[in-house]
Amino acid sequence: MLPRPDGPQGRLIVALDTPTLAQAEALAGPVAPEAGLLKLGLELFCAEGPPALARLRGLAPVFLDVKLHDIPNTVAGAIGALAALGPAMITIHAAGGPAMIAAARKAAEAAGAARPMILAVTVLTSLDAATLRAIGVEADPVNQVIRLARMALEAGADGLVCSPREVGPIRAALGEGPRLVVPGIRPAGSALGDQARVATPEEAVRDGADWIVVGRPVTGAADPAAAARAIVASLPR
Ligand code: C5P
Repeated sequence: MLPRPDGPQGRLIVALDTPTLAQAEALAGPVAPEAGLLKLGLELFCAEGPPALARLRGLAPVFLDVKLHDIPNTVAGAIGALAALGPAMITIHAAGGPAMIAAARKAAEAAGAARPMILAVTVLTSLDAATLRAIGVEADPVNQVIRLARMALEAGADGLVCSPREVGPIRAALGEGPRLVVPGIRPAGSALGDQARVATPEEAVRDGADWIVVGRPVTGAADPAAAARAIVASLPR
């Protein structure tokens, strides 16, 4: 049985979107005791590699957001290599198809009981209906999200990464089983940055998010640990 978050603090994933490990560690030190997980993304992982994961994992469980998408054999090999580094969650693209997703799950299971959760990304929020048509997808974005989500879960994904506005439709279509990890979160009153469609931490959890991913509202705050604490305090018990 895969974990669900253990209390409000366990729900908070802080995104460390920094170009260097030194900057990530400077943020992670004070923030990790206030959060459930730390998100290590593609930029930092490409720059600093496995040592970044090892260092951050010493502070909190790590959500490794690398969005793998390749032939099944290659993704299985990559998941096997990454699982050995001990992340709690790894992302793949649902668009890689059922065989790729099944191969990812199988490779994760080879890591044993403490295996990483495999989370599927459906339609990137940077893709609108016009862009989807440009790559040959005629479906409405939300229908495409549900279609890919259902396929990914049937193929073996443990959960999904989705936007706050997708949480309700996904729960309605696919039930309470899938683990949902939700970025695009802004505490009331904080700057939107480049996020257009957001929810507050409380709204996202009430709608059915298991974990929320928050970057700049924490990492850009004058006191990141206090910002993380305030978000956790705002979550339903
Ligand atoms: O700083 P902010 O809270 O906007 O950071 C959100 C994090 O979640 C970033 O790491 C971003 O790449 C990621 N993310 C997102 N929207 C998605 C998928 C991932 O904001 N649809």
